[in-house]
Amino acid sequence: MEVVLTEWASALIRWTHVIAGIAWIGSSFYFIHLDLSLRPRAGLPPGVKGEAWQVHGGGFYHMVKYLVAPPNLPDHLTWFKWEAYATWLSGFGLLVVVYYFNAEMFLVDRSVLDLSPNAAIAMSLGMLLVPWLAYEIACRSPLGKSEIALALVGYVFLVGVTYAYTQIFSGRGAFVQIGALVGTIMVANVFVVIIPNQKKIVAAMLGGTDPNPAWGEVGKQRSVHNNYLTLPVVFLMISTHYPLMFATRYNWIIVAILLLMGPAIRHFYNRRHEGKEGPLWTWAAAAVGALVIVWLSAMGTPGVKVGEGPAPKFAAVQEIVTSRCSMCHASEPVWSGIVFPPKAIRLDTADNIRGHRHEIEIQAVRSNAMPPGNITGMTVDERSIVAAWLAAGAAKD
Ligand code: HEC
Repeated sequence: MEVVLTEWASALIRWTHVIAGIAWIGSSFYFIHLDLSLRPRAGLPPGVKGEAWQVHGGGFYHMVKYLVAPPNLPDHLTWFKWEAYATWLSGFGLLVVVYYFNAEMFLVDRSVLDLSPNAAIAMSLGMLLVPWLAYEIACRSPLGKSEIALALVGYVFLVGVTYAYTQIFSGRGAFVQIGALVGTIMVANVFVVIIPNQKKIVAAMLGGTDPNPAWGEVGKQRSVHNNYLTLPVVFLMISTHYPLMFATRYNWIIVAILLLMGPAIRHFYNRRHEGKEGPLWTWAAAAVGALVIVWLSAMGTPGVKVGEGPAPKFAAVQEIVTSRCSMCHASEPVWSGIVFPPKAIRLDTADNIRGHRHEIEIQAVRSNAMPPGNITGMTVDERSIVAAWLAAGAAKD
């Protein structure tokens, strides 16, 4: 019964998370576009930066932006914050249900670091909190005064943290952790800086004093960070479904490249929304980044020789799969806590093994995503034997 409940909790929380994320990123893209497309015009009310005309859903919208705030606060004011908070809350729920409930399988890899599941969970929480605090301090320090310096230091910092994660957690755990960190930074920017500063502005106006323009500027700086982090965070969240990215040797360099590709593409759109020519170098850079990622991901995992050596007998391969995979991937799994063959993949007969040869290649030969956390201790030699069998045409004799 417990398994059924966890399965449904996971599905419902994931649904909420994806919808909240769409709402958040959607409104964020919308406002960035709106902000950049505002045009000044003579005759606009005082304090207005510019106006924009838009057409959608059968009507025309006439938007104006007050730089600090309008002279009189409207009675009805819509705040955009719950999309962000709901994304974080559901994301954290998902982290708990998928990764903390199954820490042994998805967070820990004892060949990386011999952690107990509870220690791994504690590390995961601490390693979310501490890097976020470091980011917060950096933004408020003199470094935060220079956009470029902060961006460069921030980039090196994120890559360093990613590398540290890959030395603590399984590849998959490390990727979800860096995704969660970037997501946490983004939501905290809304929760700790953008919204509170906006509230201070409103309070100052209601109190009849002039709001401090610095409140708005700091909020804007964090918005820019969020803008450039959007594409990488979404990629990191889906990357945990792609073993070649998270479970190969250069996984942390792949993240380092992604953290550059996303902002490059974002930059193209930012320029276009300003009504300028989108710089094409951004796409060229992103394309080169994508090629390098593909190449890096094909480097496999240390020690596994892909496509070398004499073709082994199928019996040897079946023996490996039976002893390393079938305890979970069988019609009636014998692994405690696993009730159905995961993802409906059964590797318990010769036909099933051959039928799933491409999945086996991706999950256990070219990457070490399976067995999860190498929980059944599949050796490098065993992976190489399966590799040689695949390279020789995966015959069933
Ligand atoms: C301890 C249990 C366990 C063992 C052992 C195990 N797996 Fe898995 N496998 C899982 C779980 C759990 C999932 C589902 C992962 C998820 O939810 O993303 C899975 C998923 C898969 C998938 C589907 C991946 C996808 O996202 O579609 C394949 C293919 C696979 N395993 C192959 C293997 C191979 C090959 C081996 C042996 C080398 C193996 N597994 C060993 C538990 C196991």
